[in-house]
Amino acid sequence: MRRSLAIAIILTIAASCSGQSGDSTTTSVTTASTTTSVATTSTMPFAPGAPGIGDSYYPGLGNGGYDVQHYDLDLAYSSDGTVDADVVITAVATQNLSGLNLDFVGWEVNDLTIDGAEVAFLRDGDELVITHRIPSGEHFKIDVSYGGTPQPMQSAAIPIEVGWLVGPESEQFVVAEPDAAHSWFPANDHPLDKATFSFAVTVPTGLTGVANGELTEIAEDDATTTYRWSMDTPMAPYLATVVIGDGWQIVEDPVSTEEAGVPIRNVLPSDLVDDAPAALAQTGEMINVLEEAFGPYPFDRYGIVVVGGFQHALENQTLSVFGRAMVDAPFFEYVHIHEIAHQWFGNSVSVAQWSDIWLNEGFATFSELLWVEHLHGVGAYREEVANRTQAARVAGYGPPASPPPDELFNGSVYIRGALVLVALRDEIGDDVFFETLRTYTERYADGNATTVDFIAVAEEVSGRDLTGLFEAWLYGQELPD
Ligand code: ARG
Ligand code: ZN
Repeated sequence: MRRSLAIAIILTIAASCSGQSGDSTTTSVTTASTTTSVATTSTMPFAPGAPGIGDSYYPGLGNGGYDVQHYDLDLAYSSDGTVDADVVITAVATQNLSGLNLDFVGWEVNDLTIDGAEVAFLRDGDELVITHRIPSGEHFKIDVSYGGTPQPMQSAAIPIEVGWLVGPESEQFVVAEPDAAHSWFPANDHPLDKATFSFAVTVPTGLTGVANGELTEIAEDDATTTYRWSMDTPMAPYLATVVIGDGWQIVEDPVSTEEAGVPIRNVLPSDLVDDAPAALAQTGEMINVLEEAFGPYPFDRYGIVVVGGFQHALENQTLSVFGRAMVDAPFFEYVHIHEIAHQWFGNSVSVAQWSDIWLNEGFATFSELLWVEHLHGVGAYREEVANRTQAARVAGYGPPASPPPDELFNGSVYIRGALVLVALRDEIGDDVFFETLRTYTERYADGNATTVDFIAVAEEVSGRDLTGLFEAWLYGQELPD
């Protein structure tokens, strides 16, 4: 039962979903003259930033020419379902810019300024195209006021609606992986451009407004309450979330907090406050198991928020969103550890290109196997591996390293992706294998990595040429023996 349930979860998740960067040169004064080169930071001409960051699967995502440092999001939600919003984006130019793009779709833009000055902009599909001259290396603030009734969007990567969703109890929640951050705030919408975030969520008093990170203030006004949240560790825009629910409670879990040494708080509708599944109390134990395998937990808190009207779970940074059906399911504990594992694989170490999604899903699915091993021993781990190998064979999963762009979260990415790690563990042994994982999470913490980067770490730590193994498991059509 344990085994078939565990398989059921990944199949549920899978079926349902059937750079730039860097600082530029140092500051100096750039004159308006471009004919004579004065002591400018860059002698390059002023040109618009690229409309995409260079993702081969989703070329429109992200933008070039600047690096976002911080998003300060202010959202006022009214009971009629409308949202009045403002975002201040602090960024630095990485080239001499004559203009730049933000990714943004839907909504009404009411006002747009850069460093306080009105600037010209136009909307072109999913791009907000801004004309403004900014010398390389200069810091600037873009302030966008916008509003309307939030609309979900169709993801290019999965056949479901993503973005700002509304549940049966009018709960509002954001699930944005991989391409829907820009459907609820203007963003450089690609994991290559991480930034810190602050959120002010204003709701009619009685509702609870939640976002990533730490709750820093609850301020009551006449009929509204503002919840302020702060995410101080860099975050990919797709992992940002806001959730609004009626009468929900922010519940501390002192036992898990004590066990894991990381503050654990969950955000729950009232019936779950007294009657949560037993595995929710195992958050601390799960974090400990994963810290042993992956290295220190990468953020300063964790918890889940549970919403209706959503069939999946998503690992939003420090605050995974769970559909109620997932929490009520008998296999909840496996989804729970899966989303916790994503805090290392996906959130702290993010993909540099979406085609490498197995680096998220394969590793998170592998954590389910580690949980089986923790609870029932290595024999049970072996049985579980055999079951999943069989499932992968029956399904005829192709290579996990290149899923179709319109089926990014296919079963191979999850199941065969996890089996890649099983094969690597068998090949190089436990000590070297877990040292490889810990070296990788440490080296790429708060950054991005590629499949090539992971292979390089495995070869470095093991001192072996692992080309054959990775070729066969990641790129070969047939599932290796
Ligand atoms: N990354 C999620 C997981 O934990 C699933 C992503 C697919 N669903 C979505 N709404 N983007 O497996
Ligand atoms: Zn996952």
